[in-house]
Amino acid sequence: MTARLVVLISGNGSNLQALIDAIRMKVLDAEIVLVVSNRKDAFGLVRAEKAGIPTHYMPLKPYTAAGRTRADYDADLAQIVGEAAPDWVVLAGWMHILSSAFLDRFPYRVVNLHPALPGKFPGAHAIEEAFAAFQHGEIKQTGCMVHLVPDEAVDAGPVIGVAEVPIYRTDTLETLANRMHQAEHKLLVQSLQRLIVGDEEVSDDDYMDEDDDEEAFA
Ligand code: GRF
Repeated sequence: MTARLVVLISGNGSNLQALIDAIRMKVLDAEIVLVVSNRKDAFGLVRAEKAGIPTHYMPLKPYTAAGRTRADYDADLAQIVGEAAPDWVVLAGWMHILSSAFLDRFPYRVVNLHPALPGKFPGAHAIEEAFAAFQHGEIKQTGCMVHLVPDEAVDAGPVIGVAEVPIYRTDTLETLANRMHQAEHKLLVQSLQRLIVGDEEVSDDDYMDEDDDEEAFA
């Protein structure tokens, strides 16, 4: 069954593009039913529109300006995302920490991509921090991961996929960032496909169990 994805973005959207391309090439059995951005000028919105995907711009500012909370914003966001009936909600460069007001609506259905290895460099500056740590001789390589987001912990949760990304002495922050993004594009597609196939296997097993029960009573 083709999985329904809602993708949340805040910027360039190169990972969104990787998903769009993988779906076109039929290596990802999914359909992107909605792209939401919290930034108006996110280039990912242009990518989505070009691909004919519905988009929604949802800024936080009107909420804070009206004295409303992030939880209010997250609850409204959950409503909009929920109306698109996603199987998976994909955070692909979404620069807003989601509270339980959002996450509790989609338990174990929110997937995040982070440009660091599990447990390393959480937050918005993972690539810069890994580059600096390499310069100080603290690490030899970095990587990226795709994980589920069950709760409010930042860049943490059950890991679906990991890719190691080497750092070379000749690297600049830019060359490392480029290598990271290449690795992320591949990893995100592979990890989502694994989740989608796993989902189908779970339902197949459930079906088999029912058959087994019937046999037992026959
Ligand atoms: C990626 O490095 C992602 O891991 C991070 O933000 C970046 C988004 O890139 N959270 P893009 O918008 O998909 O090009």
